[in-house]
Amino acid sequence: MAPYENLLLDLNNGILTITINRADKLNALNIDTIREIKNAVQQVYDDVNVKGAVFTGAGQKAFVAGADISEIAELSEVNARSFAERGQEVFSMIERCNKPIVAAVNGFALGGGCELAMACHIRVASENARFGQPEVNLGLIPGYGGTQRLTQLIGKSKAMELLMTADMVSAEEARQLGLVNYVVPQEQLMAKCQELLEKIMGKAPLAIGLVIECVNAVYDKDENGFQTEANSFARCCTSEDFVEGTNAFLEKRRAVFKGL
Ligand code: COA
Repeated sequence: MAPYENLLLDLNNGILTITINRADKLNALNIDTIREIKNAVQQVYDDVNVKGAVFTGAGQKAFVAGADISEIAELSEVNARSFAERGQEVFSMIERCNKPIVAAVNGFALGGGCELAMACHIRVASENARFGQPEVNLGLIPGYGGTQRLTQLIGKSKAMELLMTADMVSAEEARQLGLVNYVVPQEQLMAKCQELLEKIMGKAPLAIGLVIECVNAVYDKDENGFQTEANSFARCCTSEDFVEGTNAFLEKRRAVFKGL
């Protein structure tokens, strides 16, 4: 595994846990950390031993408290645009990954932290988690996709409110808004993520990757999602796992998928 200064990586039973490890800065995302996240996500894509991934933050207080404000404060206009574009590229890689990626939100998920969580396919929060896009407090707006993904996930009205007031919401409010899938006590957070991933990893990997692609197509203006779905459905029907899945059903046994 590539050496990381700001991340801890742990591969266990096919699940790569990626921990943002800057607890003294509440795991704020500096540029080096974004670069390392890109490398870690690339590993999720490339490593056949990785079947799914979890993002979390070190410590019990923060998932990620945003982009590193000390770096943002120094940005010129040109640098700021590429800063945002680079982060957006990495978070889009997460969103488009054909393996399931879950955010284990173990505390503050603010600014870039909320954006990182929203780029993941599923979010599980501990009871102490708090979500928000507080950029307007800094005279800024989100730059890592927050205006887009928050609106997609919770709808225009509430997204407008949260983005303009900079208000934080609790884990339970986030669940009610549809921002979070589950809220669990902190000590159960990783186990819940593992349970979800193991369930997904028991299905046909090709089908899972195509579900991700088709759901993402809803939000891609250049794609006809229904056509993407029909094409993906047809692709599944040519796979060995489809033969295995349908045979297993007819033979009343559990399917064993190979990812072929
Ligand atoms: N960037 C850089 N450093 C950050 C940070 C960020 N986004 N968020 C927290 N930190 C640092 C603090 O500066 C502090 O560092 P220090 O000990 O060297 O002074 C350390 O993390 C602990 O944070 P602190 O503010 O003392 O903790 P708190 O419990 O009082 O408050 C928060 C917690 C999350 C409410 C507060 O840290 C905060 O508002 N952070 C910024 C959130 C934000 O605006 N994010 C969007 C950025 S675009």
